[in-house]
Amino acid sequence: MTVQPVAWRDGVVAILDQTQLPERVVIEEFDDWRGVAEAIHMMKVRGAPAIGIAAAYGLALAARQIEAPTMDAFRAAFGSVCAAFAQTRPTAVNLFGAIERLQQVVAQSQTPDEARARLLEAAQALQHEDYAADRAMAQHGAALLPPHARVMTICNTGALATGGIGTALGIIRVAHEQGKLQHVYACETRPRMQGLKLTAWELLQEGIPFEVIADSAAGTLMAQGKVDAVITGADRIAANGDTANKIGTYTLAVLAHHHRIPFYIAAPETTIDPTTPDGAAIPIEYRDPTELTHIGGLQVAPTGAPALNPAFDVTPASLITAIITEKGVYRPPYRFGG
Ligand code: MRU
Repeated sequence: MTVQPVAWRDGVVAILDQTQLPERVVIEEFDDWRGVAEAIHMMKVRGAPAIGIAAAYGLALAARQIEAPTMDAFRAAFGSVCAAFAQTRPTAVNLFGAIERLQQVVAQSQTPDEARARLLEAAQALQHEDYAADRAMAQHGAALLPPHARVMTICNTGALATGGIGTALGIIRVAHEQGKLQHVYACETRPRMQGLKLTAWELLQEGIPFEVIADSAAGTLMAQGKVDAVITGADRIAANGDTANKIGTYTLAVLAHHHRIPFYIAAPETTIDPTTPDGAAIPIEYRDPTELTHIGGLQVAPTGAPALNPAFDVTPASLITAIITEKGVYRPPYRFGG
C-alpha cells in the first residue's frame, strides 16, 4: 500500500502531517483553504508534486467557501486565494503549475457552480496523473541501474512527496521489486531531516535494505566504492537542465562527478519549467534560521548565533548524467521547451 500525503474526503482536505512523523501518524482535516496554505508553508505536506496536489485541493476547497453573486466576483475572489497559495513556498514549480491549471479551469467556467465542480475534478486529475507518472518514471529509472545497485539519495522523494510511489524513491522501490537493488544510503538531510525521518520511515515499511548516513558521510562512502548511482528528486528543472533540489544535492552532484558515479535527477514533467532559462533564475527559499539552531524544538546553538538556512540549491546541468521523467530519459545537452 502506498501512503497518501493528501486526499479529498467528503468536502475537506485531509493532510498527513509530516512534521509529526515518524513518532505519530496524524491526519489533519481542513475545511478552510487557509489551513491548507498554512500546512504547505509549515511543511506538514511537502515535496514538489505533493505541494502542487495539496494546493489544487486547497483551491477546490476555497471555491466552495467563496460566496460570489456573479462569475466576475467569483473570479476576483479566486484570484486572491491563488495569490495566497503562491506565497507558501517559492521553489517547487509544481505549486505554480497547479495554480495556473486551476485558474484556467475558472477562466473557462460559466458559473461558480460549474467552476466548483470542475476545480475538484482538476485537482483529482492532477493527483491521478502524478500517480501514473511515478510508475512510468520508476520503470525508466530502474532500467538505468546495474545489478546489485547501491544507491545514494537525499531528502524524501517517496510516496509522502507525490501522488504515487515517489520519484527517486519510486525508482528505488521498483528496482527493489525487480531484485536489482542491493542497498540504499539515505542522507539524513539537515536541517529538516526528511531523510532521517521520512525516507527511513518509508524504506522500513517497504522492507528495502538501507542505512541513514550523516550528510557529511557521502564523500567517504563514494571514495570507498560503495555507491553505484546517486538519484535525487527535483523542485524545479530550468530550460537548460539546471535543477533546484533540497540543500545538499549540489554537494552530492559534485562528489559524484569527482568519483565518476552517475548522478540522476528523477521528476515528473510538471517539475520542468521551460519559462525559467537557467538555475540562476530559480527562486530559492530561505527558511527560518531556528530550523538550524534548534533540533526537535530544543536550542542547540549558543543564544545569538546567526544562522543562514537556504532550503534548496541548484545543481548545474553539466553535473547531471540524465533526467528521468515519465516520458523517458533525457541526456545532455538538455533543452526543455523550445
Ligand atoms: O523542502 P521539501 O521537503 O519540500 O523538499 C523536497 C525536495 O527537495 C524533494 O527532493 C523534491 O521536492 C522532490 S519530491 C518527489
